[in-house]
Amino acid sequence: MLERIKELKKEIEEIVANSVEEAEGLRIKYLSKKGEISKLFEEFRNVSADQKKEIGQAVNTLKEFAQEKINLLREGLQEQETKGYGIDLTLPGESMKLGTRHPISIVKNEILEIFKRLGFVVSEGPEIEDDWHVFGALNFADDHPARDMQDTFFIQRDPDILLRTHTSSVQVHDMETKKPPIRTVTFGRVFRNEAISYRAHCMFHQIEGLYIDENVSFADLKQTLIYFAKEFFGENAEIRMRPSYFPFTEPSAEVDVSCSICGGKGCNVCKNTGWLEILGCGMVDPHVFEASGIDSKKYTGFAFGLGIERIAMLKFGINDLRLYFENDVRFLQQFESAH
Ligand code: PHE
Repeated sequence: MLERIKELKKEIEEIVANSVEEAEGLRIKYLSKKGEISKLFEEFRNVSADQKKEIGQAVNTLKEFAQEKINLLREGLQEQETKGYGIDLTLPGESMKLGTRHPISIVKNEILEIFKRLGFVVSEGPEIEDDWHVFGALNFADDHPARDMQDTFFIQRDPDILLRTHTSSVQVHDMETKKPPIRTVTFGRVFRNEAISYRAHCMFHQIEGLYIDENVSFADLKQTLIYFAKEFFGENAEIRMRPSYFPFTEPSAEVDVSCSICGGKGCNVCKNTGWLEILGCGMVDPHVFEASGIDSKKYTGFAFGLGIERIAMLKFGINDLRLYFENDVRFLQQFESAH
């Protein structure tokens, strides 16, 4: 019997458990009523009187040893499980999800890069403006309909403070604070009091360029825009200019780019014309120079402004303006990862 006790001691010394359940299994195996050690106690009854003392002590010691060992295993495992150490650290981790750039930012960055390559410097201006920077200095007559409550958001009751309706206001800041040659490009949010639908929103984004120096001509404007169109839409892109009117440019033009969806053959995006309108532009009106203190005899310049949403719609095939501002991740996830 002493032999058997020795064997069991050795066996118990080596036991391991990977979970609380396994430890409980070991307790049942050795210490429950039908366990290995309980069996020894039963056998003990048949031990001869002269051996009782020695074997009795040995069985008791073994029982204590087994209890202690199994308790220790269980406590260790319980602690691990409550602290979360029970996890398998060799499993591959869950990768952190990166955000994606907003389509407006992607297009904005791409367009700014193109103009930066031409030597334009990025400038910014405020979204809350005064009448002078949005309208007055840009040669809008006092009764021009753009000032109307229908088109412009005014801040409280002061008709002088309003949300800019175009980024041309930044041109005025640049002309007031910089000396020619000026070559700036700006971007930002603009606001118009429009009913929201798939094709109109009360808030959208523009990019605006301004170039003032001696002898800047309409040919410079045209060449700049051709370069932009080919860089952005591809080598085969063409532009056409249609005469237009803006109070702050003379002459003025609206610019169409050949439809990048059908290659100019005509489709429902370009309404079968083969052309898509992308921007307004013109030569800076001398009145505008004078309003901001630039000598209109010495300097000429051009300006252009384009809507980022519209261009992003063409680039990504987006068909509803409202999607840009709803922040639905199913929409946002479709664009370039921000890394
Ligand atoms: N500000 C004009 C608009 O919002 C665009 C424009 C910019 C036109 C610069 C000419 C020159 O429609």
